[in-house]
Amino acid sequence: MPKTTLKDLPDLQGKKVLIRVDFNVPLDKKTGAIKNDRRIRGALPTINALLEKGAAVIAMSHLGRPSGDPAKDAFLKMDNVATRLGELLGKPVKKLAGDVVTPEVRAAAAALKPGEVMLLENVRFDPREQKNDPEFAATIAALGDVYVNDAFGTCHNDKDASMVAVPANLKAAGKPRAVGLLVAKEIEIIEGLMTSPKPPVVAIMGGAKVSDKIAFINALLGKVDSLLIGGKMTYTFLKATGVAVGSMQIADEEVNAAKALLPHVGKKITLPVDSLAAKSDDLSVTQVFEGPIAAGFEGVDIGPKTLAAYSEKIKASGTVIWNGPVGWFEQPAFSNGTKGIAKAMSESPAVTVVGGGETAEAVEQFGYDSKMTHVSTGGGAFLAYVEGKKFQSLAQIDG
Ligand code: 3PG
Repeated sequence: MPKTTLKDLPDLQGKKVLIRVDFNVPLDKKTGAIKNDRRIRGALPTINALLEKGAAVIAMSHLGRPSGDPAKDAFLKMDNVATRLGELLGKPVKKLAGDVVTPEVRAAAAALKPGEVMLLENVRFDPREQKNDPEFAATIAALGDVYVNDAFGTCHNDKDASMVAVPANLKAAGKPRAVGLLVAKEIEIIEGLMTSPKPPVVAIMGGAKVSDKIAFINALLGKVDSLLIGGKMTYTFLKATGVAVGSMQIADEEVNAAKALLPHVGKKITLPVDSLAAKSDDLSVTQVFEGPIAAGFEGVDIGPKTLAAYSEKIKASGTVIWNGPVGWFEQPAFSNGTKGIAKAMSESPAVTVVGGGETAEAVEQFGYDSKMTHVSTGGGAFLAYVEGKKFQSLAQIDG
């Protein structure tokens, strides 16, 4: 955890603070409207603190994964995000058209007054962003006197110039850098989870791919008393143990990844005892299966017995870590498991931490977010931090 936080920065009156935020928010594919502004809200305490200290704020973020075709990528411009940020801050946010750093952007940044906020264009519109390009970084770094990293969700990206090369540039120039309040809070909570969690520690793991999460699962196995499996990966584990999974197609590499974890099944790893499955050709036809799933059906949620058993464990635990929905929660008919896990966590006296974009969205959708100890803004970053990866972005802050 970097030691330099906002309170360690020198006097910010009249300074230009470059802040890297993670405003990579989910967008409606048709309209481009922001579906969930949690990540924007997450950065508000830091932005407001900087403004209160008399700084002008120049914020930057990526949004989505641009293809390089400007016409196709138009919906990834930061304009809607700037408007939403302005609404949340209660003041206009300057956002210029064109490239990330243009002569107009330089002039506007230079003219920014204390208390004013500007948002740069999507940094990934410039292909140099994801190559950690030092020249691109230098053009951004020249806009500010101070750098703040409050982009927890992107901290694991070692090749993003705005995360690594920009603070490295300021570091080389002896300019101040710090982590923002969101990054400091995320790291403190996750470090606390990994070093001194209140026992017993229960993790719930959902999502589709075992192979993507194998390092995370292995890291968790060393820390938790119990790892409860849900979501699509349930069927990968079942297939690995030789149980029929109906019509679901599961790649061999996934099954092999699950096989490597089978020695833990029945010990630390618990698999669902029942599943709700839907007919592949008619999702309105559902059936609960204990054991093998019949041909023509695919698992879509944990079953009621599993939910009851998992809920009991959650309520009797000291710490609960959840990553990955346990069912296809976007479909109301298949959302009981995910909703039930969120409810059990909200009623548990345990320290409850939710990580991962989709899981956080589910918890918010069902109205349990305020009842959790912490809902991380990180997806991949949450997993990587728990795995113990060292982040290049954070290495640029101290010193
Ligand atoms: C995320 O959503 O996990 C972060 O914003 C990073 O985005 P990326 O996976 O496109 O790098």
